[in-house]
Amino acid sequence: MPFEQLRDRHVLELAAGTGFWTDIIADSALSILATDFNVATLQVAKDRCTWPDCVAFVEADAFSLDELSGTFDAALAAFFWSHLPLSMLDSFLEVLFGRIEPGAKVVFMDNRYVEGSNIRSLGLTTREIPIKRGCWTAERPTKS
Ligand SMILES: C[S@@+](CC[C@H](N)C(=O)[O-])C[C@H]1O[C@@H](n2cnc3c(N)ncnc32)[C@H](O)[C@@H]1O
Repeated sequence: MPFEQLRDRHVLELAAGTGFWTDIIADSALSILATDFNVATLQVAKDRCTWPDCVAFVEADAFSLDELSGTFDAALAAFFWSHLPLSMLDSFLEVLFGRIEPGAKVVFMDNRYVEGSNIRSLGLTTREIPIKRGCWTAERPTKS
């Protein structure tokens, strides 16, 4: 499981949304700073359950991480990559890699494009769209 990469690590989670994946890794990570730029969504995440002390939520834009306090040897971004225009991916990675430790593990998870999955061309309902999920991991290079 890709989340094993985050076990016993201090995780910076980007675009945490309502905290679904935060909840999944809360018991195995050493700490999680879950961030999102949408305050209302973060409030839903905070209210989701009684969180262990190692989990904190902070409003933050994924493109502006300098003001966050903490040291992170892992990062998670679930269902965020596909929201970014291709032209912004490089700057996103530059900001992220600038905020985590060299060698930090990074887990990205998202839907994958499936040929022919266009809902209109198939005449399907949204529940029937053949979406595949993908997950990939990366490591911040130890040299910049
Ligand atoms: C599809 S949701 C994914 C939420 C969560 N990771 C999940 O998988 O359930 C995308 C999230 O990205 C957040 N978001 C979009 N742009 C952002 C940005 N520039 N910085 C931080 N969060 C952002 C939105 O507020 C939203 O919560």
